[in-house]
Amino acid sequence: MNVLVVNGPNLNLLGEREPAIYGTTTLRQLEREVRRHARTLRQRVKFFQSNHEGQIIDELHRRRRWADAIVINPGALTHYSYALRDALAAIALPAAEVHLSDVDAREAFRRISVVRDVCAFTFAGRGVASYCDALDALAAAR
Ligand code: DQA
Repeated sequence: MNVLVVNGPNLNLLGEREPAIYGTTTLRQLEREVRRHARTLRQRVKFFQSNHEGQIIDELHRRRRWADAIVINPGALTHYSYALRDALAAIALPAAEVHLSDVDAREAFRRISVVRDVCAFTFAGRGVASYCDALDALAAAR
């Protein structure tokens, strides 16, 4: 199973960005841990991070035939990007929305997700484990 793991805006700064909320694990370390977990599930993963909505949409389009499933932490795009939502609907692959922090326990605007109903799963509030939970769920749903 091939899984595209996408991280959106500001997640390149993981490790130094608001560590009290997002922890001290860097994006590289996160990707290494996710890859390790994927191996135990016999999944192949490709990672992509961008601060630009259009580049994320382009990557989803580009990988739509390679990928069997998507894990996506859209960052703040979660809360307002109808273009990203439409892209996920368009490629019609099983997708999991993930968040490091517990978005439902933070500011009101973070409780809104415009991608949630086009994703089969949502995992939040468990740091890197949110991504691993997503891989588990996508593997089990196959
Ligand atoms: C986030 C939560 C979002 O609200 C925020 O904009 C992020 C990160 C998370 O992983 O907890 O950039 O998606």
